[in-house]
Amino acid sequence: MKLAVVGGGSTYTPELIDGFARLRDTLPISELVLIDPAAERLELIGGLARRIFAKQGHPGLITTTSDLDAGVADADAVLIQLRIGGQAARLQDETWPLECGCVGQETTGAGGLAKALRTVPVVLDIAERVRRSNPDAWIIDFTNPVGIVTRALLQAGHKAVGLCNVAIGFQRRFAAMLDLTPADIHLDHVGLNHLTWELGVRKGGPEGENLLPQLIARHGDAIAADLRLPRAVLDRLGVVPSYYLRYFYAHDEVVRELGTKPSRAAEVAAMEKELLGLYGDPALDEKPELLAKRGGAFYSEAAVDLAAALLGDGGSAVQVVNTLNNGILPFLPDDAVVEVQARVDRTGPSPLAVPRLDPLYSGLIAHVTAYEDLALDAALRGGRERVFKALLAHPLVGQFDLAEGLTDRLLAHNKEHLAWA
Ligand code: G6P
Ligand code: MN
Repeated sequence: MKLAVVGGGSTYTPELIDGFARLRDTLPISELVLIDPAAERLELIGGLARRIFAKQGHPGLITTTSDLDAGVADADAVLIQLRIGGQAARLQDETWPLECGCVGQETTGAGGLAKALRTVPVVLDIAERVRRSNPDAWIIDFTNPVGIVTRALLQAGHKAVGLCNVAIGFQRRFAAMLDLTPADIHLDHVGLNHLTWELGVRKGGPEGENLLPQLIARHGDAIAADLRLPRAVLDRLGVVPSYYLRYFYAHDEVVRELGTKPSRAAEVAAMEKELLGLYGDPALDEKPELLAKRGGAFYSEAAVDLAAALLGDGGSAVQVVNTLNNGILPFLPDDAVVEVQARVDRTGPSPLAVPRLDPLYSGLIAHVTAYEDLALDAALRGGRERVFKALLAHPLVGQFDLAEGLTDRLLAHNKEHLAWA
């Protein structure tokens, strides 16, 4: 089995390699190609990746290349994990919305729109080249904003699935709290990427006993502390929102906070510098501790599970993915992309049925889906007016003047990345 990773020069890659090495029985990789335009960085990461495989006795071959077409040739699956403009662009996304009193975040709100505009055309171009080289290859998209990027890929007819680590993170955390193994935990996970709620936490499988009430009763304080939301949110809703819901439920508080502390982009840039220093040490042959301070915990395990289900021989597995709605949330268009539990096999994901949602959740999901629709239109066709309309539609923006001010700033800060601007 051959896998290619576009954005293989990311400082995150050792996390992925560590998962591939540990879980080689689940996903037997014979060849792994790391692809990245940053040749120097790629060499550094490639060297460490080979040392991690060697230490764990993984027989797979790891190669590196800056030539996308050569790298994806014959790949069975292509993982895309890239960030256009790097942490510098992310810093912008996190900063200028604050000037308008709005949250500055890389996937939520105006910053997320900027990221979508920069990213969608690039990912579509990569996917097109993958398809030309191997129309059967699966594309696994980790590139944010995952919901919008996955919708762009599916709309263009690609064999793509979007993936995020929020659900697997909850699964691992809840399993530890309940003294169960992660495989015993089934999440009733519903929403859009970075806009989800755990409506149930079941033991054993989709039909299992719902342990969520007792989980909140016993561990509500710890869960609320992780999410940085008041415990009352859990008690009164009776569900666990993802930490991205904090940007909605505590928007003004977050804006005040962001105004007084260093941005996440700056923190991550400092960590990346340190990580690259560590990766250059020829004695290092495992992922360093420092990597655990990044948000992507367990993303390698989610990737292994998904690739194994998509490429495996007949078996299917239930996991949380981003895929076409097709009636699963009946209040959304069929071609919206949702993040839900799905049974995954070689034919792709088939979402599990979702019970009728409380308007408390369906309202916000529908609202953000409308924004994503307009955001994708702006990313595909460009134009100031389309950017403005997407912002006006966003539940965290909504006001005419605000959308105008944000549009001006978004365009001013992203000129070099937007061909049409
Ligand atoms: C979580 C999200 C990812 C996001 C990451 C950011 O893992 O699910 O989509 O990219 O956090 O982490 P960072 O360490 O870059 O802030
Ligand atoms: Mn994510």
